[in-house]
Amino acid sequence: MKEINKIGVLTSGGDSPGMNAAIRAVVRTGIYEGLEVVGIIKGYQGLIDNEITLMHSRSVSNIIQRGGTILKSARSDEFYSEEGRKKAYDTLVKNNIDALIVIGGDGTFTGACIFEKEYDFPIVGLPGTIDNDLFGTDFTIGFDTAVNTVVEAVDKLRDTADSHDRIFIIEVMGRDAGFIALRSGIATGAEQILIPESITYINELITKLQTDYAHNKTSGIIIVAEGDDFGGAFDVAEEVNKFFPDFETRVSILGHIQRGGSPSSFDRVLASTLGYEAVKALLKGVRGVMVGSINRKVAYTPFEKSIKHHQEINMEFLKMAAVLST
Ligand code: F6P
Repeated sequence: MKEINKIGVLTSGGDSPGMNAAIRAVVRTGIYEGLEVVGIIKGYQGLIDNEITLMHSRSVSNIIQRGGTILKSARSDEFYSEEGRKKAYDTLVKNNIDALIVIGGDGTFTGACIFEKEYDFPIVGLPGTIDNDLFGTDFTIGFDTAVNTVVEAVDKLRDTADSHDRIFIIEVMGRDAGFIALRSGIATGAEQILIPESITYINELITKLQTDYAHNKTSGIIIVAEGDDFGGAFDVAEEVNKFFPDFETRVSILGHIQRGGSPSSFDRVLASTLGYEAVKALLKGVRGVMVGSINRKVAYTPFEKSIKHHQEINMEFLKMAAVLST
């Protein structure tokens, strides 16, 4: 096994609050361990384009509280080609980089998984995505902050829904997963939560709304994950309008505000811990894994496993949310 003296860190895919805290932890732990640490700008694309910058302790000052990523992020199609990966490898050799820490979601780990095997190059990953859809960690970096952002927005929408006796259909992020929808729905007392993991029967949704109104509810909140099988918030609103012509509906799509903002203390601590552990893992010879946290303990999960199996949604929570919102 080649000795590790210099490591690179990059962020890739959709950004998430807490990525900066993770970068800070990687840089400072690396320096503490006597390593040279470089940042790669714009994810795998920066690796292909040789966009490398030397990181010092001061390069990561005052960023633990900042959303986004100081290293910038991108989705690189070129990295999916053999030619692109060859250029990326050449950059690593040219800069004497011995190992990589990649921070991102399933796309990031898919790339890492291929590259790690193709070039026999040490890589470990950190789960940085608001979607919380990676197997091998209870929480991904950014999820908690995104949920808090949704909760703040829905609370505000509830105020106006209540004043005007309206039904609000609110679309949240989650292309393939309903974690944000489910958690924020429970936290805001949403009357309905629609997620890709459970089939949406619109007649059941209408019946529930009718029951709610029969029990003197005058407003309602429906949270829809963008990847729900029935469609997005506008599709749901169209159906609700058919059955409730006398009630006003409004649609609100929360969009990318969910990806930004200052990370919550939970995300800062998670990112700091996992960043620290990722460097330690590399120095122990661990590679080809995502470093996550399960039951508050550090857990290594092979890339293949973390991308192939999604963390499971607890369906009991969906049932509980329905009971508690009656
Ligand atoms: O980061 C994951 C995610 O937030 C998904 O839930 C969403 O569908 C996607 O990113 C949108 O990303 P972009 O706007 O970068 O294409």
